[in-house]
Amino acid sequence: MAKIVNPPGPRRTLPGGNFLAFRRNPLTFFQGLAQKYGDIVHFSLGLERVYLVNHPDLIKEILVTSNSNFTKSRGLERAKRLLGEGLLTSEGEFHKRQRRLSQPAFHRDRIATYAKYMVERTMQHRDTWKAGQTIDVNVEMMHLTLAIVAKTLFDADVDSEADEIGQALTTSMELFITFMVLPFGDLIYKLPLPAKKRFEQAKERLDTTIYRIINERRANQQDRGDLLSMLLLATDTEGDGSGMTDEQLRDEVLTLFLAGHETTANALTWMWYALSQNPEVAQKFYAEVDEVLGDRPATMADYPNLKYTEMVMAEAMRLFPPAWSIGRRNIQEYELGGYTIPARSIHLMSQYVTHRDARFFPEPEKFDPERWTPEAKAARPKFSYFPFGGGTRLCIGESFAWMEGVLLLATLAQKWRLRLAQGQVIDPQALLTLRPRYGMKMIVEERTK
Ligand code: HEM
Repeated sequence: MAKIVNPPGPRRTLPGGNFLAFRRNPLTFFQGLAQKYGDIVHFSLGLERVYLVNHPDLIKEILVTSNSNFTKSRGLERAKRLLGEGLLTSEGEFHKRQRRLSQPAFHRDRIATYAKYMVERTMQHRDTWKAGQTIDVNVEMMHLTLAIVAKTLFDADVDSEADEIGQALTTSMELFITFMVLPFGDLIYKLPLPAKKRFEQAKERLDTTIYRIINERRANQQDRGDLLSMLLLATDTEGDGSGMTDEQLRDEVLTLFLAGHETTANALTWMWYALSQNPEVAQKFYAEVDEVLGDRPATMADYPNLKYTEMVMAEAMRLFPPAWSIGRRNIQEYELGGYTIPARSIHLMSQYVTHRDARFFPEPEKFDPERWTPEAKAARPKFSYFPFGGGTRLCIGESFAWMEGVLLLATLAQKWRLRLAQGQVIDPQALLTLRPRYGMKMIVEERTK
């Protein structure tokens, strides 16, 4: 067999040296590696062989062209503890079937029906703010997007259930994230710690509520216009014609909860931050909101006209991608960029790194929504920007997220402008999603038109 030549990368100096650098700040660690070693960087993390892939064409090769040679990688077993076999965590034929069954719930027409609720809920939320008040925008956006995903999943009119689930979910998510991101989280999880007990209690509460709702819905087979109804009514016409079991439904619902709120909340938080730092962009954005919406509530029909708002969102997700990296493991040895990659290697593709690559985004640190005109977009390679991933595992909620981001931002902006609080330190922290490490305190200011 030919000798395998590894792509360049850092030598292991101390045992665990890469791991420490990665733990300290994966963003700067990855960015530094890409700048120093180029499009494919090889290094080890513990016992794992890792390849950091930094060129759009190679990313496309992994996510699209050769995707059948890949499974998802790190953290999946841990994630399954909470999410079971939902869309994010399942693999192979089972994933394909679940994706087929879930897809209609994310059809454009269907998403359009959620728009009304998104706007109503945001208008309620904006009325709780007061001029001069300091808010943590990250916390506010989390509450808002959680309420929206809870309602769109479980029926827009059932407030109490959404709250009940929201609470149990928040507790289990917080504890789950602790176990997910801790080094040696698996070992720690095996210890009889109070946090583990709390996690399991919250998970049980969550399951009880979700199963109760599923049972009630099964008893009354009507389409209530929400995501759960769609999932309940779905049958696999391309497969054996069956629908989802209660357990499969539970896993999908919980997955949508997790995947559907924190990412969008962080995207919105970074949008507010970017607007506060770029007065000219903010001016143009507010002008669009006033011109398109004036004082009336936004509707789905306004969405295509809020073009600049969408460009602001695209640019915020370029610099601060809520999903900051994607991991895959190859099943069989294969060739990538002229190198032979042994089976079962971890591949990391970081949106944070690629979106800040000056080859595709000149002056990468500059916040410039004009990068998102159709012409500018067409001039770049497709996978230079992949906030929603790609290929068969492309985010199923992408259209939902764009519409939610644009309508929420515009609706809040009809009434308010947000100024960054003095002394607020900004440091993107790469946990499950990219969030501001020290929160995002901002002062609410009334808009004078
Ligand atoms: C700005 C907001 C969002 C971002 C940046 C985002 C990003 C992503 C990314 C990068 C993936 C692919 C992960 C991978 O390939 O390993 C993904 C998958 C997924 N997302 Fe999103 N997402 C967002 C919003 C949403 C929303 C609103 C929902 C649902 C309501 C959602 C549901 C999902 C699901 C179920 C998957 C798994 C799809 C599959 O593997 O078939 N996401 N998301």
